[in-house]
Amino acid sequence: MTSSNAASTQPGFPADPHYVRIFDTTLRDGEQSPGVALNHAQKLEIGHQLARLGVDIIEAGFPVASAGDLAGVQRIAREVHGPVIAALARAGRADIEAAARGVEAAARPRIHTFIATSPIHMEKKLRLPPEAVVEKAVQAVQYARTFVDDVEFSAEDATRSDTEFMIRIFRAAAQAGATTINVPDTVGYTTPEEIRALFSRLRAELPEHVVLSAHCHDDLGMAVANSIAAAEGGARQIECTVNGIGERAGNASLEEIVMAFHTRADRYGLSTGVQTRELYRASRLVSRLSGMPVQPNKAVVGDNAFAHESGIHQDGVLKARETYEIMNAELVGREAAVMVMGKHSGRAAFRQALADLGYGDLSEEKVQGLFGRFKDLADRKGQIYAEDIRALADSRTDVP
Ligand code: KIV
Ligand code: ZN
Repeated sequence: MTSSNAASTQPGFPADPHYVRIFDTTLRDGEQSPGVALNHAQKLEIGHQLARLGVDIIEAGFPVASAGDLAGVQRIAREVHGPVIAALARAGRADIEAAARGVEAAARPRIHTFIATSPIHMEKKLRLPPEAVVEKAVQAVQYARTFVDDVEFSAEDATRSDTEFMIRIFRAAAQAGATTINVPDTVGYTTPEEIRALFSRLRAELPEHVVLSAHCHDDLGMAVANSIAAAEGGARQIECTVNGIGERAGNASLEEIVMAFHTRADRYGLSTGVQTRELYRASRLVSRLSGMPVQPNKAVVGDNAFAHESGIHQDGVLKARETYEIMNAELVGREAAVMVMGKHSGRAAFRQALADLGYGDLSEEKVQGLFGRFKDLADRKGQIYAEDIRALADSRTDVP
């Protein structure tokens, strides 16, 4: 199913045609989450963690936006080593010059320039005819190439644009020197079937040396599914953020994409360079510094993602973790799966909880008695904690 002729060998990236580059935009699109503003020290801390995580590209900011943003990008370019450091620029000279200043100290700098291509954006926002948009895109890419060799071009609102027009502008951008062509689903409008077909078409129409990239937003909750479908169609770069933070409903979530490729390698046959054991640490750090809590049931990094409450599940996991776990918590840098003790918990998990707390030598009869009282307590209290179980086990109430 996954397109394998999506190879694009570029210096500094693995030549494997099934390798998907992870382009992290937590510090740019992620920072566009309402209410989030990171200072330089915080951005740097996240930048270092992204490098440890092994992302391929860090989009560090939008330097023309403010002097502070420029300085933040410059600091990351100077101090974070390993990934390509990218800066965003609209298709205009001032933006591109600011982006170039932002990344000039990076060992591997990239300028990411964009212009909108959908009818609504061209008519109402840019107030430019399509020919002028193509012209501006070409000029922007050419100008960016005077500063760096690595230039990415994006067609904003690509998924609501005319496909033939996109092919035209992407071909022109590639000819002008863009090495990565990015397809943003700016307003989270597309579906997996549509974007898979779109990438297959683009892969067939665009020169082989350009890397195709997907950038999906989550307005309809499909950003991760759409990113994966884009990779099936030939995308070899995915733009995403830690915890999926970003404008409105956010961007595609990095940890979910990486773990989907990892866990379902049998299905997709694609890999990334991400060190999965650093995912949880990255998630906690971004949550703490951005002030955006992670929902408890969030895949991979939520508090409950590896917690089992029902007796049937707990019994299964105690016998073999794979019964109810498709990936190990340790693989994403977390503690082993936890048994949440509550009214749905069964005897096996209760016995195990007692043993874990040092009460492994209680008679079976005593355990049975305690189990009845544990259930009563769980009915009244909801979740039961270690201290509750200890109190039960230590109590002198006439349990044999
Ligand atoms: O969502 C979007 O269109 C963007 C572009 C600037 C890449 O973030
Ligand atoms: Zn975006």
